[in-house]
Amino acid sequence: MNKYLLGGFLLAIMMNLNKSIAAQDQAHFDKFTKVQAIFTAKCVSCHSSEQAPMGLSLEDGFSYRNLVNSASTEDPSLKRIMPNNVSDSYLYRKIIRDQEQLPFKDEGMPLDDEKLSKDEINVIENWIQSFPTNIWGEIAESNSEISPSSDESSEAFLATQLINLPTTRVLGSKTAEFRILHRFAVSNGGGSNTLGSFFGLDNGAITSINLSVGLNKNTDILVRRSGENKDVEVAIKHVPIQQSGNMPLSIGIYAGFNWISRSDVNAKHRFSPNVQLLAGSMITNTFSILAAPTIAFRSNHNARIIKQINDTTFQNYKDSRATFAVGLGAQYQPMKNFALTAEYIPRISGYKGNDFADDRRYDTWSLGLAYKVRLHVFQLLISNSQSIHTTQYIPGSSTKPVPFNKLTTKDPAVHLGFNIYRQFKW
Ligand code: HEC
Repeated sequence: MNKYLLGGFLLAIMMNLNKSIAAQDQAHFDKFTKVQAIFTAKCVSCHSSEQAPMGLSLEDGFSYRNLVNSASTEDPSLKRIMPNNVSDSYLYRKIIRDQEQLPFKDEGMPLDDEKLSKDEINVIENWIQSFPTNIWGEIAESNSEISPSSDESSEAFLATQLINLPTTRVLGSKTAEFRILHRFAVSNGGGSNTLGSFFGLDNGAITSINLSVGLNKNTDILVRRSGENKDVEVAIKHVPIQQSGNMPLSIGIYAGFNWISRSDVNAKHRFSPNVQLLAGSMITNTFSILAAPTIAFRSNHNARIIKQINDTTFQNYKDSRATFAVGLGAQYQPMKNFALTAEYIPRISGYKGNDFADDRRYDTWSLGLAYKVRLHVFQLLISNSQSIHTTQYIPGSSTKPVPFNKLTTKDPAVHLGFNIYRQFKW
């Protein structure tokens, strides 16, 4: 063979090789363009600028170098994107949300939003496997038996409270929650006219403002303050047992105390502890139940209780009884972000109203509609109870129900209300 011919032949091979490298590069970057479109739509609302969580900006122009071969902050043994190795790419673990097969820390991504669709996950998976092999090496065996379709969250409850009862859901570390709970006045104005009192909306309401902080993955602490008696409740929620494959229940405890800070309330008991056992279970993907047996100590907060001994003799009376009640609740969650909630809290023993006055307490019940948008939950509710804090709702409501047979002449006596939950993550 003539040496020119040989040279030409080699040149032709090299050009061809170059062309195929260029084609591989091009295909890789085309795939990345589609990935970036997903990041822009679903991730940069949080992952942008200097405040991006863990310094991970996923903005166009930054994402590639922040990801590829860059160690994860949460799990430094893994790269955020490991070229041509899907299952060892930490980002993939965070979006696939399958703790058993591909463990990751903290929350799945996109945080507090629906899992990415199967198609979106495929786009990201295809990109991870498309790194030109001459530069990045061979494609590692992909974990293709992990199906992105297996759907999400093992959380039994949409929010940290069902309506008044705490659920077995905890915030987890690096998370705080701000809650505003609001209960309007009785809907029929205490009489019979709902429209005249505008559903209770323009009368005095009770509001509770709450701050909770997740201490670790099982424990939250909270402090809240309600306008009822200027109460301050401080509590800890600890849920050490979480429902999982062979554990059908989540089990925990909620314990704390309430302090009546208002000086003009001549309350017999300013300080009342309460303890609640929490058991929650997700029965099906859409239905969960909650049981919360509760002891509220010194739960009679009446300012003065006077006991009549005979026609002329009255005596001051101190009621230190505890109330034992069993909170029962259910949640039906037909859609990812939407749930119907119900609670009923029958009292078993203890204080059930002032024995010496016409001041009976009625078992608390409530119904709610909850809607979740990312880190917020909005809940609209009706309840027979205007009280919010544990020590106040456990003994029952003093709002006198209108009996069913009177409903033709009297409007029902309920309270409208809402709960707003807002989480903060860092
Ligand atoms: C609502 C805000 C929010 C959204 C939206 C969001 N993230 Fe995150 N991301 C966070 C926070 C906060 C962290 C750190 C704590 C955690 O993991 O929960 C984080 C952590 C991560 C990590 C771990 C980084 C490391 O170095 O360990 C990855 C990977 C990640 N997110 C990818 C994504 C992807 C991909 C999307 C979009 C599909 C997304 N995130 C959407 C808030 C968000």
